[in-house]
Amino acid sequence: AVRELRRRGYGRRAHAMLFPFPCSGHINPTLKLAELLHSRRVHVTFVNTEHNHERLLRRRGGDGDGALRGREGFRFEAVPDGLRDEERAAPDSTVRLYLSLRRSCGAPLVEVARRVASDGDGGVPPVTCVVLSGLVSFALDVAEELGVPAFVLWGTSACGFACTLRLRQLRQRGYTPLKDESYLTNGYLDTPIDWIAGVPTVRLGDVSSFVRTLDPTSFALRVEEDEANSCARAQGLILNTFDDLESDVLDALRDEFPRVYTVGPLAADRANGQAAGLSLWDEDTACMTWLDAQPAGSVLYVSFGSLTVMSPDVLAELAWGLAETRRPFLWVIRPGLVAGGGDHHVVTNALPDGFVAETKARCFIAEWCAQEEVLRHRAVGGFLTHSGWNSTTESICAGVPMICWPGFADQYINSRYVRDEWGIGLRLDEELRREQVAAHVEELMGGGGGGDRGKEMRRNAARWKALAEAATAKGGSSYRGLDELVEQLRLGQ
Ligand code: UDX
Repeated sequence: AVRELRRRGYGRRAHAMLFPFPCSGHINPTLKLAELLHSRRVHVTFVNTEHNHERLLRRRGGDGDGALRGREGFRFEAVPDGLRDEERAAPDSTVRLYLSLRRSCGAPLVEVARRVASDGDGGVPPVTCVVLSGLVSFALDVAEELGVPAFVLWGTSACGFACTLRLRQLRQRGYTPLKDESYLTNGYLDTPIDWIAGVPTVRLGDVSSFVRTLDPTSFALRVEEDEANSCARAQGLILNTFDDLESDVLDALRDEFPRVYTVGPLAADRANGQAAGLSLWDEDTACMTWLDAQPAGSVLYVSFGSLTVMSPDVLAELAWGLAETRRPFLWVIRPGLVAGGGDHHVVTNALPDGFVAETKARCFIAEWCAQEEVLRHRAVGGFLTHSGWNSTTESICAGVPMICWPGFADQYINSRYVRDEWGIGLRLDEELRREQVAAHVEELMGGGGGGDRGKEMRRNAARWKALAEAATAKGGSSYRGLDELVEQLRLGQ
């Protein structure tokens, strides 16, 4: 009987193989989850693409090399992404990557799972579950082939996930694709949508950026709806949120999915700081020294995540809006942020003439920074963000109110919640205008901590920060969510 129990895995250490879609927005939360699982004695194999693995190794300054060497019970592996170098620079590189991964990663992942357990590494247990992020649903087949359960860490908010799930109904009911170009500006996107369970009435345009298509065969729309709906095939759904933050929508999702684990906010410091050591770009450290010299709460941090691309004109409008505020700001201009600039663009060349000279005394421009550290710095008082979910949760953890300028995917619904449900932010119009940028910054940060609304947002942000801390502290809802997840991974069924 003991042998039979052993054969079925009892007493064996759980071994999770994690595979995120290869961009920062997916790698970061997956890595943080991996660290948390490891801290709960789950054996971890974290799989990057070879391209990213090499990028991480090459990173100057950071400890990519050291961190990637792994440690007892935590190893890194890599699989080819199948993309040619010239494809990486193409404007549709994310779509190409998505397709290429589907074509070429399944077999190598199976091979990794079989090899790591059988390479004589002394007691490495067989892979007992696969944890994937969104956009790599093909890895559900990998789990099936290995005969182990799969869990999806869907990297957006619960509200973002609930809305993405309903893209199918929106399409079937004829809300999207749009009939013609005029629907983008004639108020149609303001159509109220009041039938998404757990989500308050929202504008059609806020449900997801993907409804904005005119193309009846829109690839992005289909991919999003298919990827979200494929989560039903997984054993469990893991969300980087906490119960108090999104209680209504989580209740609704729990009616639809038998196992929903809320484990967020996933923050680097919860995982012993390990996850903070890996970043696809070199982190500017001088910006921290610059921040040290600024008064408390005075700096606006400006960043748009790892994927946003904007035209030089929009960049210039934003630049002049920031210049007009006459307040200190730290602005991340990532290589690739400006359209047509290429991956190794000299960022300051993209800025309008005269801008650097005018703002020199109060502006710091970085290509990339340790964002969580920046947001927690006492000098930072506001965050102008694209409302990616990681940026949003990191801001909530730091108690920093936001000015949202959403651009695609779940960013509209995130910013809708930031402004209206949580009361911790303002939102800019889709068409960026320098006067509005300056006015919003003033409202959030002006005169002794902002106007009345600014003060209220700051109070709310402090409250959500405390609730986030309570959720992840021992006994909190996300702490228990992680316990339940680990238990399920151990049972492996
Ligand atoms: C993507 C999607 O765009 C987003 O809508 C979705 O919610 C998650 O996946 P991305 O656009 O990169 O992500 O934004 P975000 O989710 O905010 O993630 C960016 C990550 O990069 C954050 O963890 C942030 O801390 C990190 N970052 C950003 C840095 O470490 N340094 C920087 O300078 C900028």
